[in-house]
Amino acid sequence: MYEMGQQEIDAVAAVIRSGQLFRYRGGEGGQADACEKRMAELFGSRYTLMLTSGTGALICGLVGMGIGPGDEVIVPAYTWLASAGAVLSVGAIPVLADVNETLTLDPADFERRVGPRTKAVIPVHMGGRPSDMDAILAVAKKHGIRVLEDACQAIGGSYKGRRLAAIGDAGAFSFNQFKTITCGEGGALLTNDRKLFERALYFHDMGCTFRGHAGAMTEEPFLGNTLRMNELQCAVLRVQLERLDGILARLRERRDWLLEAVSAEGSAVAVSPSADLAGDCGNFATFLFNTAEERARVAGRARELNADCVLGSPIDSGLHVYTNWSVLLDKQGGFCDAMNPFKRPENQACRTTITPECCTRTLAILARTGAVGIGLSWTREQCAAVATALCRAAREARA
Ligand SMILES: Cc1ncc(COP(=O)(O)O)c(C=O)c1O
Repeated sequence: MYEMGQQEIDAVAAVIRSGQLFRYRGGEGGQADACEKRMAELFGSRYTLMLTSGTGALICGLVGMGIGPGDEVIVPAYTWLASAGAVLSVGAIPVLADVNETLTLDPADFERRVGPRTKAVIPVHMGGRPSDMDAILAVAKKHGIRVLEDACQAIGGSYKGRRLAAIGDAGAFSFNQFKTITCGEGGALLTNDRKLFERALYFHDMGCTFRGHAGAMTEEPFLGNTLRMNELQCAVLRVQLERLDGILARLRERRDWLLEAVSAEGSAVAVSPSADLAGDCGNFATFLFNTAEERARVAGRARELNADCVLGSPIDSGLHVYTNWSVLLDKQGGFCDAMNPFKRPENQACRTTITPECCTRTLAILARTGAVGIGLSWTREQCAAVATALCRAAREARA
């Protein structure tokens, strides 16, 4: 969470005073509807659906695409567990692929991992870093694979001028506490595909056919789950949406100040490659070291030199690294055997390849990478001081 204040408090208070906290039954035209309309404008997607979480948005996207038992979905090995978990939630099997030095899905490895049952791919824009969407879309098109962007960590980011989550067949946002904008918990699904959207609408609301929007639906209803968003959280999010571009501009400006100062020091540290640095959200400045040991030495020394210079490594990010997904490694994909996609008869022809060794290139890249989280209020001098500490620590580590 970067910014929250009186406007959000006032927005929540107004909803409480109105007595209309539920989005349907009179809440239509309220906060949730307004969020959806605004997101469609901001991000350029035809349809948007507010949901209770980013995980719910991924699940609705997969349901919308008709993914289910017997299908495989390619997921990068560096992402929050939920990207792969969502695939299991719809009864399908996740197949992991490596990330490259951008920390996003390696298009070449994505193609290598495609099999006869691959129906979808989930490129994840990790830490606000855009995936190489041109290359991913080309592979997907060649093999007839649907693309569900996981933009949970990259709200407002873009790739070659197009907003993330609105480039593939569908995209997912999370608005939990740790995201660029937040309402505590929440999510949204974006798509231009009417059929996908209608299926997501049914799924997120127990297949209800009596809502105001039902008359315009052409898809057959089916039972789903309850993932509806409420008016209180949407009131907060409406305010947050108006803050988004300002937050991104400030983050990117500070990231650029830091990177400029690093490049002014010569070749002390290498900046990680990006599929589109201008579109990257600017949450992090990311660097690539020769070895994991060098990165760790630089991190320790840089922190001693400057308390703002916290060089974290993605390898230490817990459930963002596939080797820590013990439930998946143990094939515990459901609450009983019949509901465990790894054990379902329809999935026995799928490749269940999730082992600690399946994406070791990802592990090596994550361990060599260090990232500095950008402070929203850093001054230009602070950014320069962080860069100086980092470069000095790197030079010392190599001496
Ligand atoms: C990359 C990624 N995907 C999916 C999710 C799931 O979002 P949520 O926690 O809102 O369900 C997250 C949340 O942290 C995430 O970072």
